[in-house]
Amino acid sequence: MRNPKSMALYERACRVIPGGTQLLSRRPSKFAYGVSPVYAVSARGARFIDLEGREYIDWVSGIGAIILGYADPVVDDAVREQIGKGTIYSINHALEVELAEELVSLIPCAEMVRYAKCGGEACAIAVRIARGLTGRDKVLFCGYHGWHDWYLAANLSEHESLDSHLFPGIDPTGVPRCLEGTAIPFLYGDAAALGELLDRYRGEVAAVIMEPLRSEWPPEGYLAEVRRLASEAGVVLIFDEVSTGFRFSPGGVQPVLGVVPDMAVFAKSISNGYPMAAVVGRREVMEPAGRMFISSTYWSDTIGLRAALTTLREIGRRDVPAQLDQLGQTIQTRLNSVAEETGAPVRCGGVSVHPQLVFDVADVLLKRKLSTLYIQEMAKRGCHGYASFYLNAAQGEAEIEQTVAAARETFTIIARGLACGNVDDLLECELKEDVFRRLVT
Ligand SMILES: Cc1ncc(COP(=O)(O)O)c(C=O)c1O
Repeated sequence: MRNPKSMALYERACRVIPGGTQLLSRRPSKFAYGVSPVYAVSARGARFIDLEGREYIDWVSGIGAIILGYADPVVDDAVREQIGKGTIYSINHALEVELAEELVSLIPCAEMVRYAKCGGEACAIAVRIARGLTGRDKVLFCGYHGWHDWYLAANLSEHESLDSHLFPGIDPTGVPRCLEGTAIPFLYGDAAALGELLDRYRGEVAAVIMEPLRSEWPPEGYLAEVRRLASEAGVVLIFDEVSTGFRFSPGGVQPVLGVVPDMAVFAKSISNGYPMAAVVGRREVMEPAGRMFISSTYWSDTIGLRAALTTLREIGRRDVPAQLDQLGQTIQTRLNSVAEETGAPVRCGGVSVHPQLVFDVADVLLKRKLSTLYIQEMAKRGCHGYASFYLNAAQGEAEIEQTVAAARETFTIIARGLACGNVDDLLECELKEDVFRRLVT
């Protein structure tokens, strides 16, 4: 066994923590079980050290939460300074207003702002506001939006509703049956299908909530048509920018897409690893929230506020989106040439700030085996990640060179395994479970 300390700790975890981890994406079965690192001890820049004492380049960037790099000195110094002044108080702090003003100045749809601590919570708040504003119950959604009842309710009526948006086969256990029919999925890229749903449920839909994009650009004109349809139906359009975050521009994806929703939701990269989330939107959509019961002790803690304000300013000051665009393009070019060199049936595509490897084999099971084999062999060479890359600004030349060298050996193993028909023998772990399967890939 490659990771005896981690696997022993995970066994202990499973005895005291239902499911073993708090986030499904951190379960060891999502990577190469027993081979990939499981517990981190520390992280700095682009890398972490695991419980075994090995160093890894982290191509998952804290599941997207890290945008500047781990332990960024500017953000961490600002947070440390804040800790010295107390973290939360019985009264309010000016940072709450300053961050809201910063978000309003950066994000096209933002005129007013509410806070939360994580992405799923912020989505639930946005949906609550839309329902409160319109007096309607139904929500049309596309993509992944967290663990809350409003979203999992989609699987009450049809168990497969969420299959292409979340984890296949997820059971809505514990979600009240009375929510059946309130969350309805739609297919990304098909504006006509969304139009039909809005027609069928005319007068009943509060919101259309969607990830505007993930790792591919939307079809030409698609989001503008979604905008038009939502306005025509009097429905609140919400962009969930939790995963895309501030990698495309210092104002999120809206300035790049040129489509302005009524509300948008941010978390993860907003604060470089400190818990923080924001719901932003047009004044007339957000203002009624002041009369709804949406309230929590920790939403305005000064650590999250300080971390977010500093992170957003550093993203702009260091021109992080341009840096990530360049980094992503280099990864795509270099990995594609390694694929060609080794003959492995793999291509690195996707938008530049979210490169993605696709194994070009028809057999779905073989695809899963190759992606597990890729994760396994890359992990053995000090590169932690899936077949997709979450970039951060601390990743640079050294990370690219190490990753390209690891990919050259890994792709060679894959090409040989396919040629000899012995891919199964090369796998040192069980097949990884499917990670988030979403419509917006
Ligand atoms: C688009 C999107 N929305 C919401 C969430 C939920 O965020 P959190 O895990 O912070 O609750 C995620 C998490 O991956 C996400 O990708």
